[in-house]
Amino acid sequence: MSERKLAIVVLAAGKGTRMKSSHAKVVHPLGGRPLVRHVLEACTSLGAKRTVVVVGHQAETVEKACNGYDATFALQEEQNGTGHAVRIARDEALGGFDGDVVILYGDVPLLTAASLRRLLDAHRANASAVSILTCVSGDASGMGRILRDGRGALTRIVEEKDATEEERATTEWNPGIYCARSDFLFPALDRLEANNAQGELYLTDIVGFSVADGMPVTTATVDPHEVDGINSRADLAELEATLRRITVRKHMDAGVSFIDPSTAWIEADVEIGPDTVIGPMVQLRGRTKLGRDCQIDGNAFLIDAEIDDEVHLRSNVVLSECRVAKGAIIGPFSHLRPGADLGRDVHVGNFVEVKKSTIGDGTKANHLAYIGDATIGTETNIGAGTITCNYDGFLKHRTTIGDRVQIGSDSQLVAPVTIGDDAYVATGTTVRHEVEPGALAYNPKPDKRRAGWVKPFRERKTREKNG
Ligand code: UD1
Ligand code: CA
Repeated sequence: MSERKLAIVVLAAGKGTRMKSSHAKVVHPLGGRPLVRHVLEACTSLGAKRTVVVVGHQAETVEKACNGYDATFALQEEQNGTGHAVRIARDEALGGFDGDVVILYGDVPLLTAASLRRLLDAHRANASAVSILTCVSGDASGMGRILRDGRGALTRIVEEKDATEEERATTEWNPGIYCARSDFLFPALDRLEANNAQGELYLTDIVGFSVADGMPVTTATVDPHEVDGINSRADLAELEATLRRITVRKHMDAGVSFIDPSTAWIEADVEIGPDTVIGPMVQLRGRTKLGRDCQIDGNAFLIDAEIDDEVHLRSNVVLSECRVAKGAIIGPFSHLRPGADLGRDVHVGNFVEVKKSTIGDGTKANHLAYIGDATIGTETNIGAGTITCNYDGFLKHRTTIGDRVQIGSDSQLVAPVTIGDDAYVATGTTVRHEVEPGALAYNPKPDKRRAGWVKPFRERKTREKNG
């Protein structure tokens, strides 16, 4: 027997007034990823046929933030309540759908796929019309309360603003995650009325309808930390801390060592191979990938960096949108900028900056260099203080350097320029023209002396200083 079809509705139309932000709440980043993407990510493993995101405030921005997920959008121009939002999803995006519908919020980012699966399985096992997750601990203030009869069966959900004092004392509360059969849900949405304290269409009322129609509601509990919503910047910071702990723990469980887990900042989409050791004060952001057996000594900032196995990042390095192949050693104090592509066993050391450049296997640039818009071959040595002069004030130009080249310290390579394989550039050379393979390039600079020059110089300077 094939499983019933599944649709997912993510409510994300709200403004999030308490964020005091000009950006829609669900696009604020958590762990480097917009809130709404956490929710969509948790839903992916459920294998839904359709995913609908209800958008309203800054609809376009929210839609953009969902890029890459197979979602459609329903526009709720006025936010007349959670029931109204689901009605719009039904009318705009779920025409003809028959199956189960999971409904959740775009601002509840820590909800796990496992909890959603538990809800769905219980819902199907009991053949319920509607099922919900509930919380039996945690702070219920502001939340809808779960009311049960003498035998413990759920009767309805009452919003705090509509509740009597006695109802408000109920400690079981509604985190806002539902699963309902479409053949019950879709007509039930038309029965909603706004006769409540907020004058809104409450989705929660469908729970009462199900009971009134003689169909008990299935409930499953969920850890309140998983359903922490975000309403303010303070909430956001708190969840960042929680998510950081979860993420670091996940990597430790997968074989990654952290010298000081409390100072590692690892964003949600980062991948790290086993036996890699992360030192203190390391930020791994965006889509950064680290291979296995890497070592990051500390004070490192990586964003969208792709690092192969056995790479050693010494302290104080900044890497963004770059690639580093196996066995390379970077730092201390190196800056790999977008488009830096380093081969195997490359060494890039103290105060070396690399941008939009390919560096071949085994090549070294260990001290004080700027390598921009260059292609460098294998086993080449870039001396201390070498600069690729890639910019003429109008355009950028490329520097091409072959294999086994020796660039002497303090040289300037004025692009566009090519230096052939096995060439030597003497120390302190300004290279403006092509250097043929195997050739030596140098600028004649006489190395002169003036005997006895210092003594009279010092005497003159001393007289000047003393007036
Ligand atoms: C709702 C529940 C309440 C529950 C609480 C959990 C109802 C009537 N009440 O409260 O029982 O304890 O969530 O947080 O459902 N949204 C829309 N369009 C709307 C209204 C809301 O998209 O017209 C979205 C919001 O962007 C938000 C989510 O739905 O992501 C919840 O809205 P919110 O106003 O915070 O929920 P409450 O009504 O306070
Ligand atoms: Ca709320």
